[in-house]
Amino acid sequence: MKKIVVLTGAGISAESGLQTFRDSDGLWEGYNIEDVATPEAWQRDPVLVQDFYNMRRKAVLEAQPNAAHVALAKLEQQYDVTVITQNIDDLHERGGSGNVLHLHGVITRSQSSLNPNLTYPINGWELKIGELCELGSQLRAHVVWFGEAVPMIEEAARICSQADIFILVGTSLNVYPAAGLIHYVPNDVSKFIIDPKIPPITAGNFTRIEAKATEGVTLLVKELVNGY
Ligand code: OAD
Repeated sequence: MKKIVVLTGAGISAESGLQTFRDSDGLWEGYNIEDVATPEAWQRDPVLVQDFYNMRRKAVLEAQPNAAHVALAKLEQQYDVTVITQNIDDLHERGGSGNVLHLHGVITRSQSSLNPNLTYPINGWELKIGELCELGSQLRAHVVWFGEAVPMIEEAARICSQADIFILVGTSLNVYPAAGLIHYVPNDVSKFIIDPKIPPITAGNFTRIEAKATEGVTLLVKELVNGY
């Protein structure tokens, strides 16, 4: 079976009603990264940080996967597929994808503030101050903050280096190391990029599909999967 690797960003979940980060109506227009998405912010004001991610979790739980998530899952009928996502939502899984690597964590789980390897499912949308991990430290959202390591990046790079077909959807390619993954995809691989506003891209030879994810991904999957 040919191997398809899909790298997704916030744009794939935009039509599910989840805000992107850097579009004009994006999350980073309303919040400073330094206030809510760094270890220093957590030290300074854990209540604010916890509330920020509680709101994100609430929005994710209320959202549904869209046609793009669902179409990507259909690729599994004929390909060995890995979805590498920068997103902290679980819409790929709920859309039916069986093999999803979360580079930046997933909001539906909590994480020990002492040991990032200790993660737990969360009941409902709210993670409260006072909820502790097994080591006795405060639980935080299982997300990677700016300034923290991205533990899955080496595994993701290895997967990209084995792609036969590579698909990029809905990412501005602003955040490293995730954005650097395109450089691990071999030169002779067929590459596609789907975005209504395609960002400048330094790795060669992408077929450009300038469209929203629901339209562009569905179109591409129809080309790749017989009978879809
Ligand atoms: P961005 O908000 O930076 O980029 C979103 C991309 O989605 C842009 O290229 C948009 O043009 C595109 N887009 C918007 N609507 C779309 C639609 N309907 N269909 C397809 N594409 C659409 O989001 P990311 O690149 O995912 O990290 O951001 C990367 C990381 O920055 C996030 O994982 C998060 C953030 O800070 C952390 O929190 C660590």
